[in-house]
Amino acid sequence: MHLVVFSTKPYDREFFTRANNNPAVTPTPHTITFHSFPLTQSTASLAHEADAVCAFVNDALPGSVLRALRGLPQEVRAILLRCAGYNNVDLATAKNLSLSVANVPAYSPEAVAEFAVALVQTLNRKTHRAYNRVREGNFELSGLMGQTLYGKTVGVVGTGRIGLAFARVMARGFGCKVVATDPFPAEERLKEAVGPDGGNYVELDELLRVSDVVSLHCPLTDDTKHIINGETLAKLKKGAVLVNTSRGGLVNTQSVIAALKSKHLGGLALDVYEGEGELFYQDHSAEIIQDDDLMRLMTFPNVLVSGHQGFFTEEALTEIAECTLRNFDELLNDKPCKNALVRQGQLARRDSLPVRI
Ligand code: NAI
Repeated sequence: MHLVVFSTKPYDREFFTRANNNPAVTPTPHTITFHSFPLTQSTASLAHEADAVCAFVNDALPGSVLRALRGLPQEVRAILLRCAGYNNVDLATAKNLSLSVANVPAYSPEAVAEFAVALVQTLNRKTHRAYNRVREGNFELSGLMGQTLYGKTVGVVGTGRIGLAFARVMARGFGCKVVATDPFPAEERLKEAVGPDGGNYVELDELLRVSDVVSLHCPLTDDTKHIINGETLAKLKKGAVLVNTSRGGLVNTQSVIAALKSKHLGGLALDVYEGEGELFYQDHSAEIIQDDDLMRLMTFPNVLVSGHQGFFTEEALTEIAECTLRNFDELLNDKPCKNALVRQGQLARRDSLPVRI
């Protein structure tokens, strides 16, 4: 079978080629074509010999792109997302076009959770600033003071795989109290993660009121878009820090800029950004970046931005490639596929309910 993979980097090619040549994953290697450019309406025609296409987080797949894929002489039958989030795909149109869609729901929740923890501590202890200072021979400590995390309250918005992994490290590693919010509370799993004495579910307003650190781990949906906005930021404890490793659209950028300027928000770490589609995963260092909000964010000493790299570990890339190729085999060879979001003209149950552990 033939798979066309879009938006690839050298590391994607390396891990996909390795998985494709691993008989335990792919007994008969597939033909894989790698493109470095994204999947769009105009590049869809380059999938003309493909049985399936593989897309990444910032490939937008609205109805027009799906129809372009379905309109090719050899119709593409499946969309393989090599990521967990699927907010970038019009699943309803995929269903109507009988296109199958699958994702990789859990390649390494710990990878993202550990990165979120790294952001919390970098922001808190200002190691990003210390690193630069010391390299210039400046050993002054002024401006580098942080807070001891032990005993502080951490608010986890979304207690799925990544949220629970993050809660576990913060509670068991740092000795933080954990409060969480989720429309599908999982009391037992939260207790398992953070220990018998810690961790309780509260409403979002209460979480914002009591937390010193708020970390977002819910998916981007119509309900969660701009869940962090002017109104919710006003409810945040003064000086609390916000971390978003989930999806950029959860945060209203203008509102966080206002909250940073007023010093109500004590710090912000973003691994994901609303306008990231235009910028992330590319080198723009010799260009004039036109996104004024992002550029404004970069001017704050208490803001950290990274380029959607929470997932970026060897273990995660191995699992992404292997799981994508398993999904490919299962979807196209009529085998059961637990990661299917759309199959045979039906939305999988996972689409209407949040993905559970
Ligand atoms: P998951 O599906 O296991 O958990 C998501 C949780 O969010 C569920 O428990 C769900 O009930 C909850 N949720 C839904 N709506 C909510 C709301 N309004 N308020 C609070 N909670 C809500 O997903 P997982 O694997 O934990 O991933 C979380 C997100 O992380 C993904 O949706 C994806 O966008 C993002 N992600 C980011 C990566 C990165 O590299 N930065 C890599 C992988 C995922």
